[in-house]
Amino acid sequence: MISPSSRLRPLQAAVLALFFLGAIVLITAIRRAGPAYPTTSPPRPAADTPAVRTPALPAAPTARTDTRAAFAPPTAASLPDTAFGKTVRQGEQIFLHTPQKAPQFAGNNLNCASCHLDAGRRPDSAPMWAAYVLYPAYRAKNGHVNTLAERLQGCFRFSMNGKPPAADDPVLIALQTYMFWLAGNAPTGVPLKGQGYPKLPPPPRKADYLRGSQVYAQNCAVCHGEHGQGQKNGAHWVFPALWGPDSFNWGAGMHQIKNAAGFIKVNMPLGRGGLLSDQEAWDVAYFMNAHERPQDPRYTESVARTRAKYHDSEDSLYGIEINGHLLGSAAPPSGGKLAQGAGR
Ligand code: HEC
Ligand code: HEC
Repeated sequence: MISPSSRLRPLQAAVLALFFLGAIVLITAIRRAGPAYPTTSPPRPAADTPAVRTPALPAAPTARTDTRAAFAPPTAASLPDTAFGKTVRQGEQIFLHTPQKAPQFAGNNLNCASCHLDAGRRPDSAPMWAAYVLYPAYRAKNGHVNTLAERLQGCFRFSMNGKPPAADDPVLIALQTYMFWLAGNAPTGVPLKGQGYPKLPPPPRKADYLRGSQVYAQNCAVCHGEHGQGQKNGAHWVFPALWGPDSFNWGAGMHQIKNAAGFIKVNMPLGRGGLLSDQEAWDVAYFMNAHERPQDPRYTESVARTRAKYHDSEDSLYGIEINGHLLGSAAPPSGGKLAQGAGR
């Protein structure tokens, strides 16, 4: 007699295949639908004022209306068919398909656009048009004024877990040309509405691993995988990894819980930003960043010393013991696929 389980197998396989196909169709649809910004972006609390609660839904009107005019980056149709236009398109392609278009510098399979949605256009997703006009700028991260090229080098080293291109490398030239074009005639030196990621008010209750794991299972695992490993369709990455060897490393901005909470609150689950409460966003950001990821490339002597030097903040769990594991002590090497055999 055939056992029930073996009879079910082809059916299960078909259902699984359908599910996966559905996920891909869904994600393409979500990406294509396009955002109705600037109305979808929640107003950002002004710097240095007591934080206000972000509305449950980003579109909800609030008392603290941001009066700054919304900036709209130019549309692709307005791009001239010139050498300049060609470089802009190259920059956009690098931004969208970083490991394919800049393989010598990308150590993981994320794209710039994995964290800067809509090809770096979406407000509250650290859009490139708003960043462009702020550089050169002082950064506490390295204690000096950074040119835009230097800022982008940091993105490759930490977020892409890779190698920084030289300042005059065609990859950096193209990315900066793309950003220059997106910024159009925006005023320089002032933060535009939608710049950066939203700063959430502190969580009502201390962020919690267990609650975060529940939010994760319910809202994130379907795309990013049960173990945060992301999902591939053949050789093609469909959903990026959130932790583990293929993710951003311990030096990246997204490993800071406050950055991750702000990003997740307005952008995740993809296409349903604003779904999570602030508490849920903090909890799931904590949970995500309480897992091992590639080593901080600035690693010095020991985990404890590296924490003291670069991670001495509540926003970083590097060097903290969680569930009996000291985070950072079993980190895969920094540099990801570029490090293999490169002796870094
Ligand atoms: C894993 C997510 C992630 C990836 C991938 C990523 N970034 Fe970022 N990026 C961030 C975060 C988080 C910040 C802000 C936090 C910080 O570091 O201060 C940021 C900040 C920036 C800024 C400054 C924004 C501002 O308003 O000041 C620029 C410019 C930037 N990224 C460009 C890039 C480029 C170009 C790439 C691809 C080479 C890239 N990023 C890849 C997460 C990411
Ligand atoms: C419908 C599928 C889907 C769901 C559900 C989803 N994400 Fe994502 N997520 C994506 C995709 C796709 C990207 C990359 C964005 C892009 O390429 O447009 C992404 C990007 C990210 C990133 C930045 C890139 C990286 O790999 O570090 C983080 C962090 C993230 N998601 C966290 C979450 C969290 C937390 C949840 C649950 C609250 C969640 N996501 C739910 C599809 C999803």
